[in-house]
Amino acid sequence: MTRDAVAVNRRSWDAVVPAHLLAYGADGFVADARRVTSVVRDDLAALAPHLPAGSPAGLDLAHLQCHIGLDTLSWARLGARVTGVDLSPASVAAARDLAERAGLAATFLESDVAHVLDVCPDRFDVVYTGIGALCWLPDLDAWARVVAGLLRPGGTFYVREAHPVLYALDPDRSDGALVLAQPYFGGAPRHRREASTYAGGAVPEDARDTYEWQHGLAEIVQALLGAGLRLAAIAEHRTIPWPALPGMVPTGDGSWALPDGADRLPLTFALTATKPT
Ligand SMILES: C[S@@+](CC[C@H](N)C(=O)[O-])C[C@H]1O[C@@H](n2cnc3c(N)ncnc32)[C@H](O)[C@@H]1O
Repeated sequence: MTRDAVAVNRRSWDAVVPAHLLAYGADGFVADARRVTSVVRDDLAALAPHLPAGSPAGLDLAHLQCHIGLDTLSWARLGARVTGVDLSPASVAAARDLAERAGLAATFLESDVAHVLDVCPDRFDVVYTGIGALCWLPDLDAWARVVAGLLRPGGTFYVREAHPVLYALDPDRSDGALVLAQPYFGGAPRHRREASTYAGGAVPEDARDTYEWQHGLAEIVQALLGAGLRLAAIAEHRTIPWPALPGMVPTGDGSWALPDGADRLPLTFALTATKPT
């Protein structure tokens, strides 16, 4: 079942690549050599204090679940030597094409996260997992072992993710009520069928089915601790880079917030962990 669900997801991610190249403004990103995505801009501020020289410049950085690679290439523009990994062949092909068009050195590998260590012999100073990633993974213990395996001793892992409590809410309430509609804790995959993506991209009729896995905050942290990493920082935030609930308002810097009472709920969390030397 899990393998089938991952294959269904791969098909869906392949199918949305053309729409996401438009929705993410990939041509504009290529054309502007100084452009860094707003996601990486925000993550840089949180990650940099944990890096040896306060900067990713000159470091080897692996980006898991890199999709079409704009965040990966943003790290390259900030001076990192980057390797992006994604399950979706169409995403990897698009990322390679964008790197070439942007004149940026980058390696992109096609792999399920669970098997990255089989296809990537390199080890990294930083392992980065961009937002919107963990819900696609059935087994976080396996994921955490891969993160730890990719890191050099002393290396840093960073993830910013949608908060699991957000994924437990009813996403369709339009009256402002925050209603728990799904289990907070993980379990069987959730089947979804959507005609458009979080970025507004249309999904072809035959690629609308996906499966997502819920992971509670403690499950995520414990997976990393269990793989031998040390927690260095964790934060919960009031904004998210897409309108995850009806009525959300743009904050003007690429993020979205609840229309009122932002303190009611964390929308994202960010976590930094290190591999002991
Ligand atoms: C929401 S996107 C990543 C978002 C990224 N931060 C961005 O906005 O470009 C999720 C990505 O995870 C990839 N993915 C899903 N399941 C995966 C798996 N098991 N192994 C590796 N990549 C996977 C998908 O192909 C997709 O490109």
